[in-house]
Amino acid sequence: MPYLSITMKKPKRPDSVQITNHNIEKYAQEVTTADSEALKALVMSSGKELEFIDMLSGNLVGQLLRFLIRISGAKRVLEIGTFTGYSALTMAEALPDDGEVVTMEMNIRYQDLALEHFSRYDSGNKIHLIKGDALELMSSVMGRFDLIFIDADKLNYEFYYESAIQKLNSGGVIVVDNVLWGGTVLAPEDPKAKALDRFNRIVAQDDRVEQVLLTLRDGVTLVRKI
Ligand SMILES: C[S@@+](CC[C@H](N)C(=O)[O-])C[C@H]1O[C@@H](n2cnc3c(N)ncnc32)[C@H](O)[C@@H]1O
Repeated sequence: MPYLSITMKKPKRPDSVQITNHNIEKYAQEVTTADSEALKALVMSSGKELEFIDMLSGNLVGQLLRFLIRISGAKRVLEIGTFTGYSALTMAEALPDDGEVVTMEMNIRYQDLALEHFSRYDSGNKIHLIKGDALELMSSVMGRFDLIFIDADKLNYEFYYESAIQKLNSGGVIVVDNVLWGGTVLAPEDPKAKALDRFNRIVAQDDRVEQVLLTLRDGVTLVRKI
């Protein structure tokens, strides 16, 4: 299967839509800076090992994360939800040599795959994987971060966001994936759609931050701590 088809996400929820037209998203991918050879290999390897890799954020979100790291000069990044390591590795590639990505994953199969991937590529040595449930681990993660990527269980975004704000430097950025949940936040019925709609409205009311919800892929919110 061509690399582009592997990284394109298909809506998986019955009542969900793809936010952007499929051909427009494909076009956007074609003209966006391509993934490094290491990232392409990681995606191919994830596809071989797992039946579904649609949790992987893909190169549009990945490239956005790289941009944010490069233009902000971020050095220390926290990620909640590693999966097989795609977004952690893309962020590590964008960080300076003394930069660090701390990433958390609770699924043992994904932990093993991510660690295997990180050991294969040079930038992997900037990544520190913490194994376990992020709900329990957040309070034990030490130090402050310049960028935090929230991409784990949707029901707990509110908790991750509040913990992230405490760990973020002023001027730092929180990036939150899947905030449109296939468009279901417009008329939320299932618990995840309801949780994400509530989360989006909490951020909108939060005077500690300024934010923009980008209609990129499944919706990505950028939150800047004032
Ligand atoms: C959407 S995937 C992450 C994708 C990854 N950021 C990427 O772009 O390749 C979400 C991941 O979060 C993990 N996860 C869900 N709830 C978690 C929790 N409470 N603690 C740690 N990891 C969790 C899942 O096992 C899954 O691997």
